[in-house]
Amino acid sequence: MKISVIGAGNVGATLAMRIAESDIADVLLVDIVDGLAKGKAIDMSDAAAIVKHERKILGTTNFDDIAGSDIVVMTAGLARKPGMTRDDLIKKNADIIRSVAEKIKVNCPDALVIVVTNPLDVMVYEMLKTTGFDKSRVIGMAGTLDGARFINILSEKTGVPRSKIKTYVLACHGDSMVPLLSKTTIADKKITDVLSEQEINECVDKTKFRGGEVVQYLKTGSAYYSPSAGVLDILVSIKNNDKRTLAVSAFLTGEYGISGICFGVPAVIGSNGIEKIVELTITEQEKTDLLKSAEKTKEMIDSL
Ligand code: LAC
Repeated sequence: MKISVIGAGNVGATLAMRIAESDIADVLLVDIVDGLAKGKAIDMSDAAAIVKHERKILGTTNFDDIAGSDIVVMTAGLARKPGMTRDDLIKKNADIIRSVAEKIKVNCPDALVIVVTNPLDVMVYEMLKTTGFDKSRVIGMAGTLDGARFINILSEKTGVPRSKIKTYVLACHGDSMVPLLSKTTIADKKITDVLSEQEINECVDKTKFRGGEVVQYLKTGSAYYSPSAGVLDILVSIKNNDKRTLAVSAFLTGEYGISGICFGVPAVIGSNGIEKIVELTITEQEKTDLLKSAEKTKEMIDSL
Protein backbone atom coordinates (compact mmCIF):
# COMPACT_ATOMS: atom_id res chain seq x y z
CA MET A 1 0.00 0.00 0.00
CA LYS A 2 1.18 3.53 -0.81
CA ILE A 3 -0.02 6.53 1.16
CA SER A 4 0.72 10.08 0.09
CA VAL A 5 0.71 12.72 2.78
CA ILE A 6 0.22 16.23 1.45
CA GLY A 7 1.97 18.79 3.63
CA ALA A 8 5.23 18.12 5.45
CA GLY A 9 4.47 20.40 8.37
CA ASN A 10 4.05 19.09 11.89
CA VAL A 11 0.87 17.08 11.27
CA GLY A 12 2.03 15.64 7.94
CA ALA A 13 5.53 14.74 9.07
CA THR A 14 4.39 13.22 12.36
CA LEU A 15 1.76 11.25 10.47
CA ALA A 16 4.33 9.97 7.95
CA MET A 17 6.43 8.73 10.85
CA ARG A 18 3.45 7.04 12.49
CA ILE A 19 2.46 5.33 9.22
CA ALA A 20 5.94 3.93 8.66
CA GLU A 21 6.59 2.96 12.27
CA SER A 22 3.20 1.25 12.53
CA ASP A 23 4.02 -0.63 9.31
CA ILE A 24 0.83 0.59 7.61
CA ALA A 25 2.31 1.50 4.21
CA ASP A 26 5.12 3.15 2.29
CA VAL A 27 4.80 6.91 2.51
CA LEU A 28 5.30 9.76 0.07
CA LEU A 29 5.53 13.12 1.79
CA VAL A 30 4.67 16.06 -0.49
CA ASP A 31 5.25 19.74 0.17
CA ILE A 32 5.64 22.79 -2.06
CA VAL A 33 8.45 24.12 0.14
CA ASP A 34 11.67 23.14 -1.59
CA GLY A 35 13.51 20.37 0.26
CA LEU A 36 11.19 20.21 3.27
CA ALA A 37 9.53 16.88 2.47
CA LYS A 38 12.72 15.36 1.14
CA GLY A 39 14.80 16.38 4.14
CA LYS A 40 12.25 15.04 6.62
CA ALA A 41 11.80 11.81 4.64
CA ILE A 42 15.54 11.13 4.61
CA ASP A 43 15.77 11.90 8.32
CA MET A 44 12.89 9.53 9.15
CA SER A 45 14.32 6.80 6.90
CA ASP A 46 17.62 7.02 8.75
CA ALA A 47 15.79 6.14 11.97
CA ALA A 48 14.24 2.99 10.47
CA ALA A 49 17.12 0.64 11.31
CA ILE A 50 16.71 1.55 14.97
CA VAL A 51 12.93 1.73 15.26
CA LYS A 52 12.81 -1.36 13.05
CA HIS A 53 10.67 -1.05 9.97
CA GLU A 54 11.34 -1.63 6.29
CA ARG A 55 8.92 1.00 4.98
CA LYS A 56 10.00 3.43 2.29
CA ILE A 57 9.55 7.10 3.12
CA LEU A 58 10.13 9.50 0.23
CA GLY A 59 9.78 13.24 -0.05
CA THR A 60 8.96 15.41 -3.07
CA THR A 61 7.74 18.80 -4.25
CA ASN A 62 6.13 17.21 -7.31
CA PHE A 63 2.43 16.48 -6.85
CA ASP A 64 2.40 14.16 -9.85
CA ASP A 65 4.47 11.72 -7.77
CA ILE A 66 1.28 10.85 -5.82
CA ALA A 67 0.25 8.70 -8.80
CA GLY A 68 -0.53 5.16 -7.68
CA SER A 69 -1.44 6.12 -4.13
CA ASP A 70 -4.13 4.03 -2.46
CA ILE A 71 -4.77 6.76 0.07
CA VAL A 72 -4.00 10.49 0.05
CA VAL A 73 -4.03 12.37 3.35
CA MET A 74 -4.46 16.12 3.02
CA THR A 75 -2.81 18.00 5.87
CA ALA A 76 -1.58 21.07 3.97
CA GLY A 77 -2.97 24.45 4.84
CA LEU A 78 -2.35 27.36 7.10
CA ALA A 79 -2.48 26.54 10.80
CA ARG A 80 -4.17 28.63 13.43
CA LYS A 81 -2.25 31.36 15.20
CA PRO A 82 -3.20 32.32 18.78
CA GLY A 83 -6.55 34.08 18.85
CA MET A 84 -7.46 32.86 15.36
CA THR A 85 -10.51 30.60 15.00
CA ARG A 86 -10.62 27.61 12.71
CA ASP A 87 -13.08 29.57 10.58
CA ASP A 88 -10.65 32.41 9.89
CA LEU A 89 -8.73 29.96 7.82
CA ILE A 90 -11.63 29.09 5.59
CA LYS A 91 -10.97 30.98 2.36
CA LYS A 92 -7.22 30.54 2.23
CA ASN A 93 -7.36 26.85 2.91
CA ALA A 94 -10.24 26.25 0.48
CA ASP A 95 -7.98 27.46 -2.34
CA ILE A 96 -5.25 25.09 -1.23
CA ILE A 97 -7.73 22.20 -1.01
CA ARG A 98 -9.04 22.85 -4.52
CA SER A 99 -5.60 22.85 -6.10
CA VAL A 100 -4.61 19.61 -4.34
CA ALA A 101 -7.97 18.02 -5.20
CA GLU A 102 -7.29 18.65 -8.89
CA LYS A 103 -3.96 16.84 -8.56
CA ILE A 104 -5.57 13.90 -6.78
CA LYS A 105 -8.30 13.63 -9.40
CA VAL A 106 -5.77 13.40 -12.22
CA ASN A 107 -3.06 11.30 -10.56
CA CYS A 108 -4.96 8.84 -8.39
CA PRO A 109 -8.62 8.77 -9.41
CA ASP A 110 -9.29 5.62 -7.36
CA ALA A 111 -7.70 6.73 -4.08
CA LEU A 112 -9.38 7.23 -0.74
CA VAL A 113 -8.85 10.75 0.59
CA ILE A 114 -8.58 11.73 4.23
CA VAL A 115 -8.80 15.44 4.99
CA VAL A 116 -7.25 17.06 8.07
CA THR A 117 -7.04 20.71 6.97
CA ASN A 118 -9.22 23.19 8.90
CA PRO A 119 -11.94 24.28 9.09
CA LEU A 120 -12.37 20.58 8.79
CA ASP A 121 -15.93 19.88 7.73
CA VAL A 122 -15.87 22.66 5.13
CA MET A 123 -12.57 21.43 3.69
CA VAL A 124 -13.91 17.87 3.43
CA TYR A 125 -16.86 19.27 1.50
CA GLU A 126 -14.53 21.19 -0.86
CA MET A 127 -12.43 18.08 -1.42
CA LEU A 128 -15.52 16.01 -2.19
CA LYS A 129 -16.92 18.56 -4.63
CA THR A 130 -13.66 19.28 -6.43
CA THR A 131 -12.59 15.65 -6.84
CA GLY A 132 -16.12 14.55 -7.69
CA PHE A 133 -15.32 11.30 -5.89
CA ASP A 134 -18.02 9.10 -4.39
CA LYS A 135 -18.90 10.22 -0.87
CA SER A 136 -17.59 6.95 0.55
CA ARG A 137 -14.06 7.92 -0.53
CA VAL A 138 -13.65 11.33 1.10
CA ILE A 139 -13.25 11.15 4.86
CA GLY A 140 -12.67 13.96 7.34
CA MET A 141 -10.59 13.37 10.44
CA ALA A 142 -11.78 15.10 13.59
CA GLY A 143 -14.01 12.83 15.67
CA THR A 144 -11.27 10.33 16.44
CA LEU A 145 -9.13 13.25 17.69
CA ASP A 146 -11.89 14.98 19.66
CA GLY A 147 -12.94 11.60 21.11
CA ALA A 148 -9.38 10.84 22.21
CA ARG A 149 -9.14 14.26 23.85
CA PHE A 150 -12.42 13.76 25.72
CA ILE A 151 -11.27 10.33 26.86
CA ASN A 152 -7.95 11.71 28.07
CA ILE A 153 -9.66 14.52 29.97
CA LEU A 154 -12.19 12.11 31.54
CA SER A 155 -9.40 9.75 32.49
CA GLU A 156 -7.49 12.54 34.23
CA LYS A 157 -10.67 13.55 36.06
CA THR A 158 -11.70 10.07 37.23
CA GLY A 159 -8.45 8.11 37.37
CA VAL A 160 -10.05 5.43 35.17
CA PRO A 161 -7.65 4.16 32.46
CA ARG A 162 -8.26 5.63 29.01
CA SER A 163 -8.82 2.15 27.61
CA LYS A 164 -11.89 1.77 29.85
CA ILE A 165 -13.59 4.92 28.60
CA LYS A 166 -15.80 4.90 25.51
CA THR A 167 -17.33 7.85 23.71
CA TYR A 168 -18.18 9.48 20.40
CA VAL A 169 -17.62 13.15 19.72
CA LEU A 170 -19.72 14.18 16.73
CA ALA A 171 -20.75 17.23 14.70
CA CYS A 172 -18.64 20.09 13.41
CA HIS A 173 -14.95 20.13 14.43
CA GLY A 174 -15.20 23.40 16.33
CA ASP A 175 -16.87 24.98 19.30
CA SER A 176 -20.20 23.36 18.44
CA MET A 177 -18.84 19.80 18.57
CA VAL A 178 -21.12 17.35 20.40
CA PRO A 179 -19.69 14.80 22.81
CA LEU A 180 -22.43 12.16 22.96
CA LEU A 181 -22.95 11.84 26.70
CA SER A 182 -25.65 9.20 26.20
CA LYS A 183 -23.01 6.98 24.59
CA THR A 184 -20.16 7.81 26.96
CA THR A 185 -19.21 5.14 29.48
CA ILE A 186 -16.49 5.15 32.13
CA ALA A 187 -15.52 1.63 33.21
CA ASP A 188 -18.87 0.43 31.81
CA LYS A 189 -20.87 2.94 33.86
CA LYS A 190 -22.84 5.81 32.36
CA ILE A 191 -20.89 9.05 32.60
CA THR A 192 -23.81 10.61 34.50
CA ASP A 193 -23.44 7.92 37.21
CA VAL A 194 -19.76 8.75 37.66
CA LEU A 195 -19.53 12.54 37.39
CA SER A 196 -21.80 15.43 38.41
CA GLU A 197 -23.41 17.63 35.78
CA GLN A 198 -20.95 20.40 36.60
CA GLU A 199 -17.95 18.07 36.30
CA ILE A 200 -19.22 16.74 32.97
CA ASN A 201 -19.73 20.26 31.65
CA GLU A 202 -16.19 21.17 32.65
CA CYS A 203 -14.78 18.14 30.83
CA VAL A 204 -16.88 18.90 27.73
CA ASP A 205 -15.76 22.55 27.68
CA LYS A 206 -12.14 21.51 28.12
CA THR A 207 -12.48 19.11 25.19
CA LYS A 208 -13.98 21.77 22.95
CA PHE A 209 -11.17 24.17 23.82
CA ARG A 210 -8.35 21.63 23.79
CA GLY A 211 -7.10 22.47 20.29
CA GLY A 212 -7.09 26.16 21.21
CA GLU A 213 -5.32 25.43 24.49
CA VAL A 214 -2.50 23.71 22.62
CA VAL A 215 -2.28 26.66 20.18
CA GLN A 216 -1.99 29.05 23.13
CA TYR A 217 0.93 27.12 24.58
CA LEU A 218 2.73 26.48 21.31
CA LYS A 219 2.25 30.06 20.10
CA THR A 220 3.32 29.10 16.57
CA GLY A 221 1.04 26.45 15.13
CA SER A 222 -1.48 23.95 16.42
CA ALA A 223 -1.63 20.40 17.75
CA TYR A 224 -0.05 17.58 15.77
CA TYR A 225 0.68 14.53 17.91
CA SER A 226 -3.00 13.87 18.57
CA PRO A 227 -4.30 14.91 15.13
CA SER A 228 -1.82 12.55 13.44
CA ALA A 229 -2.93 9.79 15.82
CA GLY A 230 -6.53 10.52 14.84
CA VAL A 231 -5.64 9.87 11.21
CA LEU A 232 -3.74 6.71 12.10
CA ASP A 233 -6.90 5.30 13.72
CA ILE A 234 -8.76 5.68 10.41
CA LEU A 235 -5.85 4.25 8.39
CA VAL A 236 -5.68 1.17 10.60
CA SER A 237 -9.38 0.51 10.00
CA ILE A 238 -8.96 0.91 6.24
CA LYS A 239 -5.87 -1.27 6.07
CA ASN A 240 -7.26 -4.06 8.25
CA ASN A 241 -10.76 -3.66 6.81
CA ASP A 242 -11.87 -4.04 10.41
CA LYS A 243 -15.20 -2.20 9.99
CA ARG A 244 -14.89 -0.37 13.27
CA THR A 245 -17.36 2.44 13.85
CA LEU A 246 -15.33 5.66 14.08
CA ALA A 247 -16.44 9.26 14.26
CA VAL A 248 -15.50 10.88 10.94
CA SER A 249 -16.69 13.80 8.87
CA ALA A 250 -18.85 12.36 6.09
CA PHE A 251 -21.22 13.73 3.47
CA LEU A 252 -24.78 13.33 4.74
CA THR A 253 -27.91 12.64 2.78
CA GLY A 254 -30.57 12.76 5.46
CA GLU A 255 -28.85 10.88 8.29
CA TYR A 256 -29.63 12.50 11.65
CA GLY A 257 -32.00 14.75 9.69
CA ILE A 258 -29.07 16.50 7.98
CA SER A 259 -28.33 16.75 4.24
CA GLY A 260 -25.84 18.31 1.88
CA ILE A 261 -22.93 18.95 4.23
CA CYS A 262 -19.91 17.04 5.53
CA PHE A 263 -20.29 16.55 9.26
CA GLY A 264 -18.98 14.43 12.12
CA VAL A 265 -20.97 11.21 12.49
CA PRO A 266 -20.20 7.62 13.45
CA ALA A 267 -19.38 5.54 10.39
CA VAL A 268 -18.21 2.02 9.62
CA ILE A 269 -14.70 2.32 8.19
CA GLY A 270 -13.22 -0.45 6.06
CA SER A 271 -11.11 -0.93 2.96
CA ASN A 272 -13.68 0.93 0.86
CA GLY A 273 -13.63 3.98 3.10
CA ILE A 274 -16.93 5.08 4.62
CA GLU A 275 -18.95 1.89 4.25
CA LYS A 276 -22.00 2.96 6.25
CA ILE A 277 -23.10 5.87 8.38
CA VAL A 278 -24.37 4.62 11.70
CA GLU A 279 -27.48 6.26 13.09
CA LEU A 280 -27.28 5.83 16.84
CA THR A 281 -30.27 6.33 19.10
CA ILE A 282 -29.53 9.63 20.80
CA THR A 283 -31.39 11.98 23.15
CA GLU A 284 -33.58 14.87 22.03
CA GLN A 285 -30.99 17.30 23.42
CA GLU A 286 -28.23 15.64 21.41
CA LYS A 287 -30.38 15.78 18.27
CA THR A 288 -30.96 19.50 18.84
CA ASP A 289 -27.23 20.07 19.42
CA LEU A 290 -26.33 18.20 16.22
CA LEU A 291 -28.83 20.24 14.19
CA LYS A 292 -27.50 23.49 15.63
CA SER A 293 -23.93 22.51 14.78
CA ALA A 294 -25.04 21.43 11.29
CA GLU A 295 -26.59 24.85 10.78
CA LYS A 296 -23.25 26.51 11.59
CA THR A 297 -21.41 24.15 9.24
CA LYS A 298 -23.87 24.93 6.47
CA GLU A 299 -23.35 28.67 6.95
CA MET A 300 -19.59 28.21 6.60
CA ILE A 301 -19.98 26.13 3.46
CA ASP A 302 -22.40 28.69 2.01
CA SER A 303 -19.90 31.48 2.76
CA LEU A 304 -17.53 29.95 0.24
C1 LAC B 1 -7.07 20.91 16.67
C2 LAC B 1 -6.89 21.34 15.26
C3 LAC B 1 -6.10 20.36 14.51
O1 LAC B 1 -8.21 20.58 17.02
O2 LAC B 1 -8.12 21.55 14.67
O3 LAC B 1 -6.08 20.86 17.38
